[in-house]
Order: sequence, then structure tokens, then C-alpha cells
Amino acid sequence: MAVTPVAPKRPPTPSGGPPITTLATPPAWLPLSWLVFAAIGLIGFGTALAIAARSVTGTPGAPTAVATVHLGMLAFLSTAVLGASHQFGPVVAGRRLRSVTAGLLTMLLWVPASWLLPFAFATHRPVLLEAAGVTAFTAVCLAAWNLSGPLLRRGRGTPVLGLRLAICYLVLTAAFGVTYTFDMHHGYFLLLPRRVLAHAHLGLLGWIGLAYVAVAEKLWPMFLLAHRPSTTAGDWAVRLVAGGVPVVVIGLLIPSVPLTSIGAGIVVAGLVGHLVSLAGVIRHRRRRMELLHGFVLTSAVMLIVAVWAAAVAGMFDLSITLRTRAIETEVFALTMWLGLAVIGHLHKIVPFITWSRMRTAGHTKAPNGRPLLFAHLVNAPAARATYALSTLGATTGIVGMAGGHVVLVGVSGAALAAAGAVALSNLVSGPLRIIAIDRRRAVASEGEPTPTKPAPTPAPPVSVS
Ligand code: HEM
Repeated sequence: MAVTPVAPKRPPTPSGGPPITTLATPPAWLPLSWLVFAAIGLIGFGTALAIAARSVTGTPGAPTAVATVHLGMLAFLSTAVLGASHQFGPVVAGRRLRSVTAGLLTMLLWVPASWLLPFAFATHRPVLLEAAGVTAFTAVCLAAWNLSGPLLRRGRGTPVLGLRLAICYLVLTAAFGVTYTFDMHHGYFLLLPRRVLAHAHLGLLGWIGLAYVAVAEKLWPMFLLAHRPSTTAGDWAVRLVAGGVPVVVIGLLIPSVPLTSIGAGIVVAGLVGHLVSLAGVIRHRRRRMELLHGFVLTSAVMLIVAVWAAAVAGMFDLSITLRTRAIETEVFALTMWLGLAVIGHLHKIVPFITWSRMRTAGHTKAPNGRPLLFAHLVNAPAARATYALSTLGATTGIVGMAGGHVVLVGVSGAALAAAGAVALSNLVSGPLRIIAIDRRRAVASEGEPTPTKPAPTPAPPVSVS
């Protein structure tokens, strides 16, 4: 079996944290293009939520509601986590992807499929739905093969194990999903709500949730400069979420309420471990609280709301309408737990990757002439506006779903779309601004008369006299 060469580490970053890029990482354009598409996906998800607010609020099975959900799950969240995994996997495992070209091909299959699938849902095109489902499934299998290069490396700790299992759950989620697309067309079996819920929880908790719980164990201490005495809580979070999700899924499919409850208990114990780990990181941080803390803490609140909504849906004797609302609130709150975490970390990950690329390209100076830092690549007020808009989107969406308020769900969609637009323009315009300033500097220095060497003072004429 070909062994992928282990890459030597690069020097630490200007924030003094461990390097985010090593010689194992792919070229910057690969993760960055995935992340740009993820930001566009957030704009699409928010816009669809605003337009389809009426069908999303109360009739989750409606085609436009399912379409909106998949814009959020595929074009935004899954694209962001798949993109970050193409960078994060090689960095943490210290081993390259199997192929950069395969990474590009995955993106060229996944991104169109993640938009076509919702479009096919919304416009009742069963053949297009099947084609988009098969394309998405193919892209997911290609990503699993490519990422297995770094992620199958042994002894690299819980984050790598967690990401490895999360990718496996993505393949399973897509397998369920593509099977359902054919079933919706040919009616092989009844697509009962619990079967859809099994697919939904596999995707939200097993794929994106577990991926976040795993990579957070590396990203949080790095970005929050925390030195924790132990990672036990985080290690258990990964193990319990990874172990509990299949029990929940099998419980929903059988169906067996006791099995589903046992699985849910295990997952919730894992999520508590995740929150305890966050508390530990904040307690042992070596930098003052900053915007990323705001995103991560608000995201944690959404997780608590999701667990509460799931408990209400699972444990109380509710009418169908109220149970549907409770499940919708749970699914939306889980989406916002992961959405806010993704948006917050994008404001760190993108400048990190861009910074090293900028330096390699010779852009080493900030507008004030001092060494270029990550902070020069992000506009802080715009980042704060993104936080405010995404938090507004999350809270109005949850209150809207729980109370059946269509207007609030519409406001939520508009706020999330705006958050995506501000984040995208902020993270793209930062580096472009530095490049433009450097270009102006170069032109200005070209115009300047090159300081001619002062004519040598003629030796005083030797008087021959
Ligand atoms: C990869 C390709 C995927 C395909 C082909 C797919 C397909 C489907 C299908 C056919 C349904 C049932 C729709 C219905 O009941 O009318 C569904 C529902 C759902 N899927 Fe997916 N799915 C995919 C990926 C995902 C992922 C990655 C997630 C989560 C991270 C996800 C979350 C959901 C949710 C939450 C629902 C319920 C939607 C609702 O009832 O409003 N799906 N999916």
C-alpha cells in the first residue's frame, strides 16, 4: 500500500498558535473556493427561508420546505465542513490528501448537486432529483476516498477519529438520501416521517455535528489560545456522539422508542461533554474574550435549545401540530448551532489560509507598512455586523418555528442571507484591499526617480602648480 509522505511542520503563525498550514495542506485555492461556495450557500439558504417561510413554518414535508432545508444542509453547512475538512484533515493528521485534483473534482460535483437537489425538490422534477442525488452521493464517496489519505492515519488523537467517523456518517446520510429520491419517484417503500428523521439526524448529528465536536477540540484551544490541563470532556464528547447516533437512527427505523431514547441519552451525554470542554477552554484561555467567543457561545445556546426541543418532542404527549413544531424547532436550532459555529470560525480560518498565501505571494505589509497580520484581512465592524445578523436570524427563526410565526421565520431568512452577504464581501475584500495597496505602492515606487547615486565629487583638481 502506497504510504503518503509525512510532511515536516511549518513555523508557527503570527498569533503564536500552532501552524494552520503545513506542507501536507493542499494549495490555498482549494479550501478557499469551497468556503466561498459555502458563504454563497448561506445566502441561498437565507433567501429561500425568507421566500418559503409560510411552507417551512408548519409543513416541513412541503417540497419548498424540503428544498430550503437542503440548501441549508448541503449548499451551506456540508459545503463549509467538507471544504474545511480538505484543509483541516491534512493539517491535523500531518498527511496529504490522496489527490488535490480529486478535491477539485469533488467540489465541481458537490456544489452544483447541492443547488440542483433543492431546485428539483421545489419544482417537482423527480428525474433531476435522482440525478442530483446520485451526483451528490458520488461527490461524497470521492471526498471520503480522498480524505481517507490523511484521516486513516493512526494515533492522531480524537479529532482525527471524530472527523473520520463523521465522513462515514456523511456517506451513510447521502446513501439514505439518494435512496429516498428514488423511492419518492418509484414508491418502493413508504417514506414515513421517522425514516426521514433517521436521515436528518444522521446528517445533522452524525456528519456535521460530530465533525464540529471533533475539530472544535483542535480549533478552540488554537484560536482561543487555551492550554487545558485535560481533554477528557472533549474526547468523551466525540466518542458518545459517534456511538449514540447509530443507536438513535436504528431506533427511529425499527421503530423502537426505548432504543431511540437510549441513543438520544448517549448523544446528549456527548453534547454535554462538548459544552464542558468549551467551558474548560474558556476557563484556561490566554487571550481576552473576542468575537469568536461570541459566535461559539451563542452557538452553544442554540445547542441547548435544540436538546430542549428534542426532549419536548420525544417525551411529552403533544398534538401532531405541536410535535411537528417541536421537531422543526429542534432541527432549526441544530442548524443554527452548527451555522453560527461555521460562520464564526470562517472569520478565523479564511484569514489564516489567506495570510500564508499572501505572504508567499509577497504581500507582507499591512496598509500602515507594518508586518501583515490576520486582523488586516478582516474588517472588524463588518464581522460584528455578521455576528449580529446571524444571531438575529437564529433567534427569530427559533421563536418563529416554535410559535408558528411565519413573519419571524421570514425575518430569520432575510437576516441569515444578509449575514452571508456581509461575511462573503468582508472575507473576500480584505485580501483584495491589501493587494490593491501593494500594487499602488509598486506603481508609486516605479514612478519615483530611482535615487541616482550622487555624482562622485570630482577630486579637487590637482594643482599642478
Ligand atoms: C447527499 C444527499 C442528500 C439527499 C439526496 C437527500 C435527500 C432527502 C430526501 C429525499 C428527503 C425526504 C424529503 C421528503 O420527505 O419529502 C430528505 C429529507 C431531509 N434531509 Fe436530506 N438528503 C441529502 C443529504 C442531507 C444532509 C447531508 C442532511 C443534513 C445534514 C439532510 C437533512 C435532511 C432533513 C433535515 C430532511 C427533512 C426535511 C423536511 O422534512 O423538511 N439531507 N433528504
